[in-house]
Order: sequence, then structure tokens, then C-alpha cells
Amino acid sequence: MDWGMENRLSQLIQPDGHCFFLPIDHGYFQGPTHRLEKPGETAKPLLPYVDALFVTRGVLRSCIDPTNTKPIILRVSGGTSVIGKDLAHEGITTSVRDALRLNVAAVGLSIFVGSDYEHESLLNLAKLVNECEDYGLPVMAVTAVGKELEKREARYLALCCRIAAELGARVVKTYWCEDFDKVTNGCPVPVVMAGGPKCETELEVLEFVYDGMQRGAVGVNLGRNVWQNDHPVAMARALRAIIHENATVKEAYELFNSVKSGER
Ligand code: 5RP
Repeated sequence: MDWGMENRLSQLIQPDGHCFFLPIDHGYFQGPTHRLEKPGETAKPLLPYVDALFVTRGVLRSCIDPTNTKPIILRVSGGTSVIGKDLAHEGITTSVRDALRLNVAAVGLSIFVGSDYEHESLLNLAKLVNECEDYGLPVMAVTAVGKELEKREARYLALCCRIAAELGARVVKTYWCEDFDKVTNGCPVPVVMAGGPKCETELEVLEFVYDGMQRGAVGVNLGRNVWQNDHPVAMARALRAIIHENATVKEAYELFNSVKSGER
């Protein structure tokens, strides 16, 4: 692997082989998402506990301090909205030149397997990989499901992740699901888990992250279940304990409660 590619990947995936990415990119199709109205303020207290930020260039330039030293994964696909016709109809929104100008560690783009725009989104990924490989810039593929959240099951997600890896993604982001090892076993590149809409309890989140890590995920790209929680720093610290400190669900939940109550 070329030095630049290896260097960028090692900024994202830590020496223990694990990673905690914090996505704050939701506004690119959802607008001012609840508790992400001011993305810079949402992210600031969480930055010490995460390994990278997933963000668009607009929010990066306007809301994130450029002296911030956390690696950036730049969201480079979009062009749709929650009130538009079809969330799957994305294109590439940001040039590789601009990504390099922003000194990012990777770029991320969504693919919509099985949708009316499957072909376009997969070719977007392939074209992006063709360009990014020239510069040693890793591409993270996001296996998006649009509004069809019921698609989050192993057979479908395994198909999406494998296709993303075959087209050259260096990292694949997908959803956790039952039998998650079926997803990771069929994907030759590192897999990270997103959370989707906020779960009802913290325990639910800690449980699925723990399960996914046991079943081969290298980490998370978890947004709403962190920053929509009433205690986002406690949540970030509990997740970090599972991802980087081998904590059990019970230990992570105890940490969540003690940070929440101000004991730690
Ligand atoms: C949506 C994304 C997010 O990065 C991804 O869904 C992770 O966030 P969450 O855990 O809130 O689902 O690709 O734009």
C-alpha cells in the first residue's frame, strides 16, 4: 500500500484496529436535524472521545475550527433532500481537489443497492475510487437504505458491503443487524456500523455496538445515538470504552451512568 494511503487509513483506524467516527453530515439531506442545528457546538465536547468526524465541506468550513486535529472524513455525495422525490438519486457533490485542499483523511459517498439509482450510485463510487486512489485518499462507502429502514438485515447488507468493497472502497459503513458476522465475513475491507434513528434506551445502543464488534466490525460511525442523547459526552465515553477499552456492556453502562451523574 502506498505511504499516503496507509498514513491516512492509520489516522482513522487506530493501532488497536478499532475506530470511533462521529458523523455530523445529516444536514446534507435532512436540513437542520434535531440537536445538530449548530453542528460545531454539537461536535466540540465530543471530539476528545472520537477518532474522526464525518462532515460535508460546507459545515467543515463554517463550523469546525481548522486547528482541530481530528481527522476528517468528507461527505462528497448528495443532491437530494428528505422532501424530494428519491433519496437514492445522489451524485458526487465535491471534487477530489477540494477534498485535498481541506486536507481530509478520507472521503465518503452513499450507494443505494436495489434502488432505481443503484447503477448511478455504484458508478459514482467506482469513479470516485478511480480518482482518489491516484492521491492515496481512502473512500468510505456508505450502504444507505434511504427511508426503507426495514432493509437493515444481514442478507441485503452483506450484498451491499461486498459490492462496495469489490468496487474499491477502503472502508464500508453499514447498519448493525442480527447475524452481523454474515456481513463482516463477506466483506474483505473494514466494516463500521451506523446507528440509524435514535434508539429508545442507551442499553440498546451499547448492546448492538458490543455485538457488532464481537462479530467483526472494526468500529462505529454513530451519530444520532450519540448527539441526540440527553447526555452525549457520557454516551461517547461509554461507546469509546467498548470500542477501544474492551469494556463489556455492563461496564460501559456503568460508565455512562457515572459520567451522567458527574462522578467521572
Ligand atoms: C447519514 C449518514 C450518517 O453518517 C450515518 O447514517 C450515521 O449516522 P447515524 O448513526 O445517525 O445513522 O450517512 O447522512
